[in-house]
Amino acid sequence: MCGIIAYAGDREVVPLLIKGLKTLEYRGYDSAGLVVKQNNQLGIIKRAGRISELEKSPELGSLNGSIGIAHTRWATHGVPNETNAHPHLDCKKEIAIVHNGIIENYAGLREILKKKGHNFISNTDSEVIAHLIEDFYHGDLTEATINALRCIDGTFGLAVMSKNEDKIVAARRGSPLILGVGDHEMFVCSDAAGILEHTKKVIYLDDNEVATITKENYSISDIYGNGIDKKVHEIKWSIDQIEKKGFKHFMLKEIFEQPDALENTLRGRIKDKNIKLSLNFDIKSIKRIIFIACGTSWHSALIGKYIIEKINRIPVDVDYASEFRYKNPIIKEGDLVIAISQSGETADTLAAIKEAKAKKAKTMGIINVVGSTISREVDSGIYLHSGPEIGVASTKAFTGQVLAILLISLYIEQEKGNKIEYSLVEEITRLPEKARTIFNDTEKIKNIANDLRESKAFLFLGRGINFPVALEGALKLKEISYIHAEGYPTAEMKHGPIALIEKDFPVIFVLNKDNLTKKCLSNIEEIKSRGGKIIIVTSDKELKEIADKIIYVPATKEELSPILNVIPLQLLSYYIADLKGIDPDKPRNLAKSVTVE
Ligand code: AGP
Ligand code: GLU
Repeated sequence: MCGIIAYAGDREVVPLLIKGLKTLEYRGYDSAGLVVKQNNQLGIIKRAGRISELEKSPELGSLNGSIGIAHTRWATHGVPNETNAHPHLDCKKEIAIVHNGIIENYAGLREILKKKGHNFISNTDSEVIAHLIEDFYHGDLTEATINALRCIDGTFGLAVMSKNEDKIVAARRGSPLILGVGDHEMFVCSDAAGILEHTKKVIYLDDNEVATITKENYSISDIYGNGIDKKVHEIKWSIDQIEKKGFKHFMLKEIFEQPDALENTLRGRIKDKNIKLSLNFDIKSIKRIIFIACGTSWHSALIGKYIIEKINRIPVDVDYASEFRYKNPIIKEGDLVIAISQSGETADTLAAIKEAKAKKAKTMGIINVVGSTISREVDSGIYLHSGPEIGVASTKAFTGQVLAILLISLYIEQEKGNKIEYSLVEEITRLPEKARTIFNDTEKIKNIANDLRESKAFLFLGRGINFPVALEGALKLKEISYIHAEGYPTAEMKHGPIALIEKDFPVIFVLNKDNLTKKCLSNIEEIKSRGGKIIIVTSDKELKEIADKIIYVPATKEELSPILNVIPLQLLSYYIADLKGIDPDKPRNLAKSVTVE
């Protein structure tokens, strides 16, 4: 993961880099550092910990210059201390690099370079890049970088500078990197969010492309030095869309944004009860769907399986992207492989899509970030338009994904000429408003969070389409409040997890009012009789007596219920984390987009 920002122009670069890094902090926050070209020397400052530590360092004030690169790290190789923080330098301290990704053959390269007399000071894989470039450097940084990259196996988003030249060289393979084109200034960044306040004109680098920027110009080539013409894109979203707008955390803001985000996912896609999607292939001929995704996006894929198998009667497989890519998957004619990803940058999902393409599958993406790598890799797809999701825990992208899958499912029926359930289409249009009403209970949910915050473990149980909601509730709690939680299909509880139940063990049931309610009631009794604490999320008013705590959500159609049911679970996790004093936007050991394997 990690975030990179680089600048060449006329402005004072240090404040610009620090501000840009802060926007990228969601990508990693183990350490931060920057390097600036100052009086034909490289001035470098690095700190372990968050960007605020770097910002506090007194030496920062003495650094001036208008060309520099900066990095916020999510460590893969080497502990997160100051020595391992990026930028890394060559032996002569004349070349500096920042790197996002993993250099897989770093150990071998390191040995070779050591034998040639290079002196390494960090434990990172990345440092080898600085020494390799040094080895190839004869006065042209672009050429030396290209030569170095040809020796490297693995993934990189890279920015390089030299004390001898007024330029920055950037390159990518597998890790996102964009160029920002300004007026007499140029940027390099991992994510458009880092430079949006300066320019909306961006160029998305593709794999094995190398860019050279100066304050006036840019040029792009492949790793053989052949020039490439690239399109300049205009970013549509604005800076205030990524600010906290008075909420304590991005996660809370993003939870509350869900009604609007759902409206955005729907915008222009339902007209006169018809579903409008522009896919560039014949989706009605699809015989099987394979979803590939990770984490929360994998949970929406599981919900997608319920929706599509119910509505379309097309078999659906759901694979973890990290498993799919290595299992020699069986792809047949008529298969459609759909990648679900908020960021569109998840390395495992990207590699899985490439594997599917190599096997000649049709591919599609359900992606939030416009212009992201996966969105450019797939044959076709739909964007969520949920807006930027900054909090590490995915919230609004999840509900957007489920809604997008439902639209695709209805669209398939429509394309086949089958009658679609109009009452379901109508209910979809009512969904944002129903979601909005859940926030009337925010205080109640916060109180429940307060009661439960000291619990050491939780069980989340749900049946059918709500089983993945239970998994998602457990993941949210684990990742932001560090409390162990498991999700299970409700009836499965008696096959093992029930052994965990003792007095006051919290069990959260996600329950629709349907033909399985009675069965779930028996499961609730089984837990209750063993002293467990029963918390129910439901629209069923009749369950009040049996619950220790109950959170109501508006009644809706089964296919839409996960979208409403998950919102109280997101709020519950958020408040538990916040009450425990954990920053839910930056949970330990995690980063927002996982661009390494
Ligand atoms: C969600 O809360 C997690 N932080 C994580 O599981 C995430 O969903 C996963 O890494 C996939 O990310 P993506 O949707 O951007 O591909
Ligand atoms: N592999 C590099 C390191 O551990 C970069 C990791 C990253 O992408 O954040 O420093």
